[in-house]
Amino acid sequence: MLKITNVTRRFGRNTAVDSVTLDIEPGQMVGVIGRSGAGKSTLLRMINRLIDPSEGSISFGGATVSTLRGAQLRGWQRDCAMIFQQFNLVPRLDVLTNVLLGRLNHRSTILNLLSIFSRDERILAINALERLGIAQTALQAAGTLSGGQQQRVAIARALMQQPKVILADEPIASLDPLNAKIVMDALRDINRREGLTVVTNLHTLDTARSYCDRIIGMSGGKVVFDGGPEDLDREAVARVYGADADDIPEEITSTSIASEKPRKFQSAGPLEPAFAGL
Ligand SMILES: Nc1ncnc2c1ncn2[C@@H]1O[C@H](COP(=O)(O)OP(=O)(O)OP(=O)(O)O)[C@@H](O)[C@H]1O
Ligand SMILES: [Mg+2]
Repeated sequence: MLKITNVTRRFGRNTAVDSVTLDIEPGQMVGVIGRSGAGKSTLLRMINRLIDPSEGSISFGGATVSTLRGAQLRGWQRDCAMIFQQFNLVPRLDVLTNVLLGRLNHRSTILNLLSIFSRDERILAINALERLGIAQTALQAAGTLSGGQQQRVAIARALMQQPKVILADEPIASLDPLNAKIVMDALRDINRREGLTVVTNLHTLDTARSYCDRIIGMSGGKVVFDGGPEDLDREAVARVYGADADDIPEEITSTSIASEKPRKFQSAGPLEPAFAGL
């Protein structure tokens, strides 16, 4: 269980996240929605410890992670992979190497300095790429791929960390509708098949509704909605977006992803045994 207890983050006099308390069950797929500036990214970044809370505590599996330092902090950051809107790949390196970079925290400094990856690690990386349907791009420079392909590389790199939690900050905000759907399908498939907890910030309601088991609505740093997609009625939407129900911005409710039920992702065969072996 990921437990966030009374977490506050201030930047100067501005309170970005205001006394948030949430319990997230293992294997849940959680969408975080809210207007720009509501505190969504700050919340995710505190979970991953890219920034520290001003107050409150975060724990995972009973262990407090909000005060970890050094090697233990790196261990937590390995368990909790982060995916960003802008992919954060190394554009001049090939796709396979980008994916292998997800292993860095598992390895000794000397192996990393020498850039030596084992055969098993390479197989794992190819399997992750196959699973995401982009193995054919393995030797291409990452910067030459389309946005949707690059985000899939970033997800493959996250899988190489063998994380327990995936945090995604607006993973589809830079993608066209088709690629957005492919990326969301991939995240949900990972959530369902590996049982990984996924917490993702999303900027459109319909994506949160069609992909998430649970939706958290933030406004002014506070949680103002927490429930299933079926509970997110007009009144709740108005609370989250701070508008009259009739005055909700068009882009929030517009359909960015075809509303059909997402297809199951094609399995690439012996992925799970390979993952289990490392
Ligand atoms: N590093 C920082 N320094 C100062 N203020 C910050 C910093 N990061 C975030 N903030 C402020 O905290 C508040 C919440 O920001 P945050 O990025 O978490 O919002 P968000 O919900 O992710 O918005 P968006 O939808 O635009 O990504 C904003 O007022 C923002 O200006
Ligand atoms: Mg943000």
